[in-house]
Amino acid sequence: MAGFKSRGLGPWRVGVLFSRSGCTAVIEQTQLWATLLALEEINRSGGVNGREIVPVVYDPMSDPATFASYAKRLMVEDGVTAIFGCYTSSSRKAVIPVVERLNGLLWYPTPYEGFEFSPNVIYTGPAPNQNSVALCRFLMERYGKRFCLIGSDYVYPRESNRIMRELVRANGGEICGETYVSLRARHRDFVPVLSEIKRLRPDVIFSTVVGDSTSCLYQAYHDAGFDPRVIPIGSLTTTEAEVAAMGADVAEGHITAASYFESVRTDQNSSFVRKYKKRYGEDEPTNMCAEAAYFQVHIFAKALAHTDSLDTDLLRPAVLGTEFDAPQGTVSVSETYAHTDLWTRIGRVDSHGRFEILEQSCGQVDADPYLIGSGRVLACG
Ligand code: ACM
Repeated sequence: MAGFKSRGLGPWRVGVLFSRSGCTAVIEQTQLWATLLALEEINRSGGVNGREIVPVVYDPMSDPATFASYAKRLMVEDGVTAIFGCYTSSSRKAVIPVVERLNGLLWYPTPYEGFEFSPNVIYTGPAPNQNSVALCRFLMERYGKRFCLIGSDYVYPRESNRIMRELVRANGGEICGETYVSLRARHRDFVPVLSEIKRLRPDVIFSTVVGDSTSCLYQAYHDAGFDPRVIPIGSLTTTEAEVAAMGADVAEGHITAASYFESVRTDQNSSFVRKYKKRYGEDEPTNMCAEAAYFQVHIFAKALAHTDSLDTDLLRPAVLGTEFDAPQGTVSVSETYAHTDLWTRIGRVDSHGRFEILEQSCGQVDADPYLIGSGRVLACG
């Protein structure tokens, strides 16, 4: 560990809110690990302006109200202004009033439904124009135009399905079914849903089932005798972490749209994957949510080196416009939206549980969280 020339100022303290328990722990644990890995890297090379960054970490247990109360504790009792955290949109929506009231800065590294802006959030996961649009086009071209939608019952799936419904209908397709299950759904909860889907005979299933119940959906699909080569599940949130939980035999053939897969070929990604596995185990894959959690800490540190202050009124303007060579490729934080311009990729799970990248954008796709621009036109995905 580097020695720190702290100039008598002590370390920088930051908050970290990712769940190690509860229904989205499988994916949030990876975001926690990636955040800590980036902080360790920065500290090992001397910290920021000679000061170590010290994380104050709580486990919000996948519960939005607990996220909000820890965010408040971080800001009021621990003296923190910058918080890295949140996976579900309900946890983000619970934390936003806290950071807005106390003028903090939430760094949010997760795909979400878009149609949101807060002056106290930096969004580093994809908005629908960076994943849903390409996924819809890909599924329609390869498999057909009849979609069944299945999601967890909260804001992200309902809003993502609203956007998918609009995209499908605007491009001559049809939604033949739409169902929601609890975030805590188990295998047996998916059995009647899948027998109804079988009866409806869609061309594809668009899933916004998230968290630990994801593996139950794919297992139930497998057990019901569906063939992913004929009717695949397309998703925006099924990552290497969920694939590892369900097993490659269950996941093979299914499709995900994301900015990042572990199989991305860049020098930055080789280094990220190597360090992540060395730190957390050779069997632990990286994934899109961990990658965003990792690169956002580096963007934060770059801005902090510039401002030498954690004051949100100074830090936020220094973050906007920042470019960074992330594992997925070069990304930049949009000055207009405080969302990140990211890559768009379509991956299919292979027999080893890795994502084979079938398509990718030629470069960063500008964040367009309100789908104002060309986002609704599938050909531009
Ligand atoms: C999510 O709730 N944004 C995955």
